[in-house]
Amino acid sequence: MKLALYTDDLLDVDASLVSVGVFSDEPDRGLTFADLNRRLDGMLEQACRDEDFSGRPGQSVIVNLPPGRELRRVAVFGLGERKAFDGEGARSYAGAAARWAGRVGASSMALGFVHAEEAEGSTLGLFQALAEGLHLGRYRYDELRTREVKASPLEAVHVAFSADDVHGLRGSDLRDALDRGGLIARGVMTARDLINAPANVLTPVELAERAKRMAKAHELSCKILTPRDMERQNMHLHLGVGQGSRNEPRLIHLAYEPAGKKNRPVLVLVGKGLTFDAGGLSIKTSEGMMEMKIDMGGAAAVMGAMHAIAALKPDVVVHGVIGAAENMPDGNAIRPGDVIKGKRGISVEILNTDAEGRLVLADTLAYAQDLGPDYLVDLATLTGACMVALGRQRSAAYYREGPMQALFEKAWAKSGELFWRLPLARELKDQLKSDVADIKNIGDRWGGSITAALFLEEFIDSELPWAHLDIAGPVFAAAENGHIPKGGTGFGVRTLVAMCDQLQTQS
Ligand code: BES
Ligand code: MN
Ligand code: ZN
Repeated sequence: MKLALYTDDLLDVDASLVSVGVFSDEPDRGLTFADLNRRLDGMLEQACRDEDFSGRPGQSVIVNLPPGRELRRVAVFGLGERKAFDGEGARSYAGAAARWAGRVGASSMALGFVHAEEAEGSTLGLFQALAEGLHLGRYRYDELRTREVKASPLEAVHVAFSADDVHGLRGSDLRDALDRGGLIARGVMTARDLINAPANVLTPVELAERAKRMAKAHELSCKILTPRDMERQNMHLHLGVGQGSRNEPRLIHLAYEPAGKKNRPVLVLVGKGLTFDAGGLSIKTSEGMMEMKIDMGGAAAVMGAMHAIAALKPDVVVHGVIGAAENMPDGNAIRPGDVIKGKRGISVEILNTDAEGRLVLADTLAYAQDLGPDYLVDLATLTGACMVALGRQRSAAYYREGPMQALFEKAWAKSGELFWRLPLARELKDQLKSDVADIKNIGDRWGGSITAALFLEEFIDSELPWAHLDIAGPVFAAAENGHIPKGGTGFGVRTLVAMCDQLQTQS
């Protein structure tokens, strides 16, 4: 899909659909709306009244125009209150507009620019967010359909603004912001495709193949560890989780190194890549298992971020490390009560084989720390308890004070993704005491997301700037909303890219 800048009269645009955003608290619904409405003889206002349109976020009205011009329709989208509007609002607006364009069969659309008052909503940031939303709203997962494949017909979007909107910014800067948004959206869509792929298609070996292909296409380096390689590094926790499956585990290591040799910050990203989680011998219920192809959502975010980073080329060294395995029950599977030592030599009593993500991550995080990170972030669909605490749309964020807190909170604010900080609560640490080993892999009923994070912390060097994101909820959406489709969301990619941006600005 091509994005272009447009500064002429909206009614003359070479498109069949014009989309405009409207705040709920502006007289005459804003200048763009008022002007269009006047020149369309009040048709827009009439349609909005007929449909009780108040400008709430998520609300929309489509107005079909009488024949006689190329422009066939005007779509009006609610943006909520002006003072609350930000980059995420712009992204959702553009996403909804792109989805509607597809639905009404429009191949071209003009999208009206909207201002934000917030500091974060800088003009360039808004152009970038609009581009992200347009690409993301157009996304569909059709890889496995053999009939009724209906790719969105939307091929061209004119982002329409006036000189007042951009107060002196150059066209080339606006263009760059649109392009950046496109590259970030590509990364998010890479993650969505991986999450949506079913577990019979996307095995650990296939995930590794896709990583290799991506590396080749984008000048990343890529190293794959097979079980024999993992054996040599004593990754018995990761291997243990995979040993009940016919599909062998893999460790995937992608790396981006910018040209030249200055002292650059090193960011290491780690993803949980359970291509399916049946629970192992501590088997899940059929309902609990239904969605478990998404248990590689952390890996997907890392892959998507590496894809975007390879294209954006920040001045930061970035490694992406993925622990891939399938958690299945069979005669060779690990048992509740087994004690296993992984790469770091800590003995772990495995009392529940469904708490497998932390076992895989223990070894993957150990590998990641050998790469000498200045900052280490892991993403994992780690616990159902996290969804009980924060709901299905928001991720938990655990991070240490100091440099990581500063970095993560800035990236979080910039990306617009939903997080909430939870504590690495010392008082819950006793829950991990084992009767026979150094630690056990589950705590009691209370604070399940926190004890999972505390388990991971056992494998992290003290003092290392580290963050753990429990993304079990937001990787998958039950319904479409704005730029987010039903199914895999690609959650996490935008925050990881924002971390790179922030590191680049800092250094
Ligand atoms: N992959 C699951 C967590 C999960 C559940 C992600 C639902 C997305 C949706 C994880 O491996 C798991 O099974 N966790 C257990 C831990 C428990 C056994 C301590 C859980 O949350 O029930
Ligand atoms: Mn599990
Ligand atoms: Zn899992």
